[in-house]
Amino acid sequence: MFSQRIDGLRPSPIRSILNVIERPGMVSFAGGLPATDALPSWSGAVPPALLQYGRSEGEPELRAAVSDSLRALGVDAPPERVMILSGSQQGIDLTAKLFVDPGTTVAVEYPTYLAALQVLRFYGAEFADIATSALERVPLGYVVPTFANPTGACMSETERDRLAETCLRTGTAVFEDDPYRELAYEPCDRTPIVARMVGGTWIYQGSFSKTFAPGLRLGYLAASEDLFEHLVAIKQATDLHSSRLSQRIVFDAITDPGWPARLAGLVSFYRSRRDAFEGSLRRHFDGLATWDTPPGGLFYWLRLQRPIDTRTLLADAIENRVAFMPGEEFSPGQPDIGTMRLNFSHASADDTERGLRTLARILARAS
Ligand SMILES: Cc1ncc(COP(=O)(O)O)c(C=O)c1O
Repeated sequence: MFSQRIDGLRPSPIRSILNVIERPGMVSFAGGLPATDALPSWSGAVPPALLQYGRSEGEPELRAAVSDSLRALGVDAPPERVMILSGSQQGIDLTAKLFVDPGTTVAVEYPTYLAALQVLRFYGAEFADIATSALERVPLGYVVPTFANPTGACMSETERDRLAETCLRTGTAVFEDDPYRELAYEPCDRTPIVARMVGGTWIYQGSFSKTFAPGLRLGYLAASEDLFEHLVAIKQATDLHSSRLSQRIVFDAITDPGWPARLAGLVSFYRSRRDAFEGSLRRHFDGLATWDTPPGGLFYWLRLQRPIDTRTLLADAIENRVAFMPGEEFSPGQPDIGTMRLNFSHASADDTERGLRTLARILARAS
């Protein structure tokens, strides 16, 4: 009765865990959720014109504003090649529809964003490690080079240069997913890889979820000329267009004179959450795990000293009112056993201390 594709589709473990985090007393390190205190309020009226159907590419004023910000980063993104997305998750779906048939190889980082793996697998992708594979005959490379999900790592300038050069030589399309770039707590090179790809084939996407409001479901992409029209046609077939009301709310916010100050405040708030998290980690996980302090983004990536499959710990953790993401879920190939992704933006410092103490106790018991 169903398509063959559906056989391989598993529900996202993140979405399943999100269903339990609203339980009273739960400390969640699981999703990439902004802090509730950091969400904006909105009291504008709804102009009736916005309730009409709109353009698939998005509202012209918002596309122009996004184009300005991308061009400031060196990306060749005139407004005509900017498209507004219903969340940047949609950009992954559109790109997969454009590139992936059953058996198509997609080069990715090991580990990488699990909901990208979920979509790419749905269309039949197989994976190769973008750091170690020759990319000849690989049509698409998907990367999160700036404050990666799940590792928090930021690619160096040399790594960015090298990847752009290789993909230009092999004709591999670079798909750069960049939702965390604004959340920088330490200096590091964040110039998009696609800014180094003049004449190449590329897609660059960003999101308003992490800096503004994920519930508005709004992101954007820009693409090289050879791809853009295809992506628009696929978006038309997917949802016609993104919410016009969401686009108006975001446009008003990002063009408000207070926007840079809002971003700066958000960065310093999340930096202090990261620092509090680091303190609690050192108190409770010393000897249990190793980690690098993330220079940006929303996640810590832990490697356990004793490789326990952390998926087996999740039920116990949730019973003890703490949620985390097993790192094994982010593996494109064989699960990377003994890894955990911990979000540090959502829980307060007190909850973090309590949650990490509990998690360390569960881990020590299982070791
Ligand atoms: C790397 C990456 N890409 C895309 C997304 C999807 O974001 P959204 O659809 O909310 O823009 C996320 C969300 O966590 C992410 O981490």
